[in-house]
Amino acid sequence: MGAQEDTGFSTRQVHVGSSAAPASPRATPIYLTAGFTFSDLDESAAHFSTGSGFGYTRTGNPTVQAVEERLASLEGGDQAILVSSGQAAVTVALLGLAGAGDHLVVSEHIYEGTRGLLLDNLARLGIETTFVDTDDLDAWRAAITPRTKALFAETLSNARNHVLDVAAVAAVGAEHGIPLVVDSTFTTPYLLRPIEHGAAVVVHSASKFLAGQGAVLGGVIVDDGRFDAAASGHVFPHLVGADRLGGASYAEKHGPRARGAYFRESVAPRFGPSPSPLNAFLIGQGVETLSLRVERQSANALAVARWLEGRPEVERVDYVGLPSHPHHELGRRYLTRGSGSVFTVTLRGGLEAARHVVQSVRLITHMTHLGDVRSLVLHPQSTSHAGRTVAERERAGVFPGTIRLSIGIEDIDDILADLAQALDGIVSATRAGDVREVVVL
Ligand SMILES: Cc1ncc(COP(=O)(O)O)c(C=O)c1O
Repeated sequence: MGAQEDTGFSTRQVHVGSSAAPASPRATPIYLTAGFTFSDLDESAAHFSTGSGFGYTRTGNPTVQAVEERLASLEGGDQAILVSSGQAAVTVALLGLAGAGDHLVVSEHIYEGTRGLLLDNLARLGIETTFVDTDDLDAWRAAITPRTKALFAETLSNARNHVLDVAAVAAVGAEHGIPLVVDSTFTTPYLLRPIEHGAAVVVHSASKFLAGQGAVLGGVIVDDGRFDAAASGHVFPHLVGADRLGGASYAEKHGPRARGAYFRESVAPRFGPSPSPLNAFLIGQGVETLSLRVERQSANALAVARWLEGRPEVERVDYVGLPSHPHHELGRRYLTRGSGSVFTVTLRGGLEAARHVVQSVRLITHMTHLGDVRSLVLHPQSTSHAGRTVAERERAGVFPGTIRLSIGIEDIDDILADLAQALDGIVSATRAGDVREVVVL
């Protein structure tokens, strides 16, 4: 480790996990190898019995480990496990906690891929989910059953920019020894460190802000290292009971690190979503500039959101950085360094206005991705939220005229100029009736 834990965020994002030893490579080397040689039989035996050293990249790799140390430090967690995608991170976290016959309580405002995982794949494995209104603490409490193994929510959700009251929901779980697992993809450790507010496990799609440049996929699970066998042992017999493969329990072997150890030693390597060391290197490179990018993206997003609110073509802007957003005060409490850069805008001209904007932007890229250095746009109703009912979409803040923006690090004047030319074109592009609507409303 090349930096003290008491140094600042931007210092740690550059130094933690990199070697400061004399004559060692300053950039993290890419160990692009399936496995590692053993010097003798005792070393290989020790590796298999205690996990010491490196043997095979699916169970450990120096490039991957360097990124894991960096991300654990930035999150204020105990250990991080890097996996091949955000989807894999959510899967590993939930399968590390729940099994057949178990139950999860989940916020209704979650990424569609996670929703599909819960409603289809995990349901087929016998893990049931109850979805609740994110803001309703009584609903979270009421949904808990004796089989509930986790509460799950996103810290800042797509599309309505709902902010999770992390401390309040974590406290509901703690009443029953149940951990809160949060997907903090939209907030990144720079804007929010959920473990400091009581979350037990944090997951990210590292494909987004952490990597930052849209070149690789990755995911990470960060555990708080505070597993309390006395308070939660009855919820997690697989952590406190004897290891199914023989020997002492995870709690006996790892104490408060038992849950993280189970993710790392059992779930991730056996289900097998290992990251490529090359992708791990690129994620590590991305993380080195995380604070700079997120700061700039948040500042740009606030400027864009304010500007859009003043445009006649715009019906509503769902950005938590705006005082008009219902979660603005909650956002100010949790997101002290900026309000993120992904939000939705609903145009008065409906579907045709949205179609015009996504098809006429020149600088902003029309694609399904977010958290990139480049500004991006997508039409949720016809893409990410196409599988939802109209009522569900409306609850999520998705209407025919809604577009989702992920604001990048470009010069703000250029982003605004691009949006201006796209919005200006709505009137001439839409039918006469729509034109009246645009002008009158
Ligand atoms: C909030 C959130 N979580 C998880 C994922 C899945 O991540 P990945 O695409 O890296 O598998 C995404 C992807 O868009 C996401 O937005």
